[in-house]
Amino acid sequence: MSRILLCFPIFSIFFLFGHQERIPAGHLQPLGSHRPSEGKIKSIDFIPSPKDFFEEYASISRPVIFKGAAKLSPGFSLWTDNYIREKYGSITVRVDYGKKENRNRPADDLTLSEFLAIYNDSDRYLVDTLPKEMWDEFFLPNCLLCGGFTTRLQDAVMWFSSGGSKSFLHMDTVDNVNCMISGVKEWFIVDLEHSKLIDMDHGEGDYCSVNVDQVDMFKYPSLQNLPWWSAHLEPGDCLFIPYGWAHQVTSLFRNIAVNIWWTPFSRFNSTDCEVNSENGDSSKAKLSNFKFTTGEQLRFMLLKVIKEHNGMMTYNVINPLIVGEHTGERLITKTRFSLLDTDQDGYLTEDNVMSVPADVVDEAFGKTLPGEVNIRGESRRRDDRVSTLLQSVEKQPPLVEEFLLRDDKTLEDFNKFLGQHSEQLDKSVRDFIQERLDDVLKSQQTESQGKHNEL
Ligand SMILES: *[C@@H]1O[C@H](CO)[C@@H](O)[C@H](O)[C@H]1NC(C)=O
Ligand SMILES: *[C@@H]1O[C@H](CO)[C@@H](O)[C@H](O)[C@H]1NC(C)=O
Repeated sequence: MSRILLCFPIFSIFFLFGHQERIPAGHLQPLGSHRPSEGKIKSIDFIPSPKDFFEEYASISRPVIFKGAAKLSPGFSLWTDNYIREKYGSITVRVDYGKKENRNRPADDLTLSEFLAIYNDSDRYLVDTLPKEMWDEFFLPNCLLCGGFTTRLQDAVMWFSSGGSKSFLHMDTVDNVNCMISGVKEWFIVDLEHSKLIDMDHGEGDYCSVNVDQVDMFKYPSLQNLPWWSAHLEPGDCLFIPYGWAHQVTSLFRNIAVNIWWTPFSRFNSTDCEVNSENGDSSKAKLSNFKFTTGEQLRFMLLKVIKEHNGMMTYNVINPLIVGEHTGERLITKTRFSLLDTDQDGYLTEDNVMSVPADVVDEAFGKTLPGEVNIRGESRRRDDRVSTLLQSVEKQPPLVEEFLLRDDKTLEDFNKFLGQHSEQLDKSVRDFIQERLDDVLKSQQTESQGKHNEL
């Protein structure tokens, strides 16, 4: 007996030792644990002129933080919960389920008042174009005011949650400036060259589906030894992230950010800078003074789809691919296809798409907003039975709705949920969950039966 006890620790030390060498650093640990960062993204406490910004950052793909730049926007001090509720409460916004990004979960529409009433006690995350009504209260950073940026603006998006949210590791095909109104964001950022090496295994290369809390270094060997930079954004700071720099963002505390996306370009045109610089009125930078062309953004999406199909697409190929994400509607109809197919030869090419004006691209997508377009033919419809059920029940904690709408629930999730919340559930809801649980069980049985048959 005592020999066994003695041997065991010695054996296990040997066992651990033998394996340790082969386990990559940071395996099953949070993203960024595998090696120290290369340093912090450069931070400056002024906003450069558009020309300097273009030459020193945008055109050479260098990220930078403008410390305190967002404090110039009235929204920075105005946008408390009370102010937003009183002034903008009735506006409808799109709200996601789940702060840990899960791109398969549904989203739905709430008014800002409804969102404000639940966001502190739920996992809901508002991600939507900043409502137009609020555009007077957010200013474009001065470095974007002339030279070509203003004709290439794509979208201004608001991100609002009670913190604790985590994005996937992903990259954008556009230039981006992200400004903090409230809360803190921690960034894991990878430079352009190294980003190209990351295994973006989801959404046709849009993002890497690695679990950022527990990185599986065996499944994602491209992350082993990947050099990275860190950035820490506080209220008022704006971060410029050039296109193609992969990033993962963790948000803390009551968290409001607005980010601006624009199409990168290669030549600075100073013609409109001379006129602009004369007038020192800062309110000329308010978003409502600019045109954000969704057509530019849609063009980007379209080019991506065409590239993935070797530069050429027929109507039959593109029609099922481009759908309204929440309606399932096929957006490129025959008539709209012919708007884009400028030479009417039945094939859509990059040249076709580049030669039409942005508003025609917009028209071709049925004027559907870019955030609502899915280019992989997928739609994320709400489950009608869940909606009807919840409407008929007096009151449910928000977590019930979120749980019911998740489409990736495992048997374990069901059991855990029923174990924890059974007491609080309305009978009809409990019955419904039990019914869904039975469905999962049944489908698992059929699956294992299928395997037996194969044997
Ligand atoms: C939510 O929590 C934040 C603090 O984290 C607080 O400022 C805000 O007023 C709260 N909102 C509501 C509606 O309770
Ligand atoms: C520069 O911008 C002005 C308008 O501000 C435009 O008229 C001119 O054609 C542009 N030049 C080039 C080379 O694009």
